[in-house]
Amino acid sequence: MPDIPIPGAPAPQPPPVEEPTEPVPTPGPKPDQSGPQVRTPTGVQAHEDQQVNAQQGEWLTTSGGVRLRETDKSLKAGERGPTLLQDHHLREKITHFDHERIPERVVHARGAGAHGTFKAYGGAETVTSAGFLAEGRETPVFVRFSTVLGSRGSADTVRDTRGFATKFYTEEGNFDLVGNNIPVFFIQDGIKFPDVIHAGKPHPDREIPQAQSAHDTFWDFVSLHTEAQHHTMWNMSDRGLSRSYRMMEGFGVHTFRLVNAAGETSLAKFHWKPKLGVHGLLWEEAQMLGGFDPDFHRRDLADAIETGAYPEWELGIQVFPDTPEQTYAGIDLLDPTKIVPEEIAPV
Ligand code: HEM
Repeated sequence: MPDIPIPGAPAPQPPPVEEPTEPVPTPGPKPDQSGPQVRTPTGVQAHEDQQVNAQQGEWLTTSGGVRLRETDKSLKAGERGPTLLQDHHLREKITHFDHERIPERVVHARGAGAHGTFKAYGGAETVTSAGFLAEGRETPVFVRFSTVLGSRGSADTVRDTRGFATKFYTEEGNFDLVGNNIPVFFIQDGIKFPDVIHAGKPHPDREIPQAQSAHDTFWDFVSLHTEAQHHTMWNMSDRGLSRSYRMMEGFGVHTFRLVNAAGETSLAKFHWKPKLGVHGLLWEEAQMLGGFDPDFHRRDLADAIETGAYPEWELGIQVFPDTPEQTYAGIDLLDPTKIVPEEIAPV
């Protein structure tokens, strides 16, 4: 029997490691890999820069920018030997992959967004000096719509409140108008937020139900907590089953204080009104869509934008004088948890 070493077989001595020691030239760019013209499900032709299927740069590189000869084969000890840890590119590639994680948000984990433009009519100039609300001013915006309770991979059409968060990239800095599609909220004091979310999230033992609130802990919270019942009534209406992100109202919910050029203040609530009107799904439709197409809302938004049916909203404000008289029956809009003394609370 000839003495042929078997690579990788246990032996008193480690197998020889032959590594290239002479520098070798980097291979040139890969051949053109562009495929047939890309068309999306809506039939729209993709943008020119989406036509390139090949790698975008001329070279494959490590994350430090060093040109790579090879990214498909790891370094082995000999012909059939085990993978070697001195393959720094292999280690970097796998370590990078192992860390490709974005921690899931505790609420509003499931959502979809789009860029757009906000154009002001100027109607709010008497109550605010904010530049982006000056007549004719155009401001780039980004809006993200979301469900509240579901995990990132949950279905879009579950019964839930929807988030409607808009970021205005104004000349005076970024302004975030965080809203929901329902104008009231479960709680009036933020300290109860962990409680309402813990009650709405799945049961801790079985981790069900996913993405919806019809279970004991939630009913327990709502039955013992009367201020949550108003929001719950809205949730159980057609608003809890939006037909499309394009057909949702948005409400800032909180009461904001606006300041005009003269330094006078007013209290205001922000309202988005969709040009397409407000529409809900039927319960049966929502349930079937959850199975057939769990991405129904994000697909609807992307398809509408791609075909040029851009969604539009009008932004309005509801203004209240910032005086003691704005309180009604002992309730202060700025802090509903505070009981206003009777002498300044006209009833
Ligand atoms: C009152 C107590 C509240 C607390 C403590 C609270 C807390 C939070 C937190 C911690 C997040 C971020 C989750 C993450 O990124 O991991 C979040 C997101 C969000 N909240 Fe609230 N929230 C409250 C009320 C509200 C209200 C009243 C609205 C509606 C006006 C609202 C709408 C949203 C929206 C739309 C998002 C997601 C924003 C996005 O898409 O990036 N929240 N909330």
